[in-house]
Amino acid sequence: MDIYVDTANLAEIKQAHELGLADGVTTNPTLIAKENGDFKDILKGICREVSGPVHAEVLSLEYEKMVTEGRELAKIADNIVIKIPMNHDGLKAVRSLKAEGIRTNITLIFSAGQAILAAKAGTTYLCPFLGRLDDISANGLELLDTIQTILINNPDLDAKIIAASIRTPIHVVELAAMGIDILTIPSKVLEQLEHHPLTDIGIEQFTKDAEKFK
Ligand code: E4P
Repeated sequence: MDIYVDTANLAEIKQAHELGLADGVTTNPTLIAKENGDFKDILKGICREVSGPVHAEVLSLEYEKMVTEGRELAKIADNIVIKIPMNHDGLKAVRSLKAEGIRTNITLIFSAGQAILAAKAGTTYLCPFLGRLDDISANGLELLDTIQTILINNPDLDAKIIAASIRTPIHVVELAAMGIDILTIPSKVLEQLEHHPLTDIGIEQFTKDAEKFK
């Protein structure tokens, strides 16, 4: 299982990296807009920090513009993966970029049907958003489970799943138990995973009792 950090913030990426929790990084236009600086410079900085895949999203929505932009972003570093939104032109763009040896990630997947089209287009990664489904009272984990089953039962579809829009530690645990290839996790959830009230109580007790030996 690979864990990516879902942020464009360098400090958060460094912090995750120190714990072995940055096998890769996912960004999107919203995450990059939160940072100061030029779009490509921010991506360059991330690629200097992390040797694994760094996912950078195209800003255009038309086929030709997506391909041109994908080619430009791919020049930033060898570890850049091009994120393409799930739409008709995006599927075409993935096929063209794949033919040029550029790795892609089809993002904003909300149904198993979209996942099938993405895998058939030849995307390297496909990215279902579970939290946003939960937000509208749908079942994000159920979708992940269905997509996982489709890929296992159809080994000719060799895309990897990146579970995105992870909102809680429970999401992380359920996805890990399902054997999902890659989980991209925001720093807040990585931090939440560290804590347990019984750990805090235990540390407090041990610290108090250790005073006797100081
Ligand atoms: C990752 O690639 C996605 O862009 C990200 O997980 C979206 O998460 P959100 O639904 O919390 O914005």
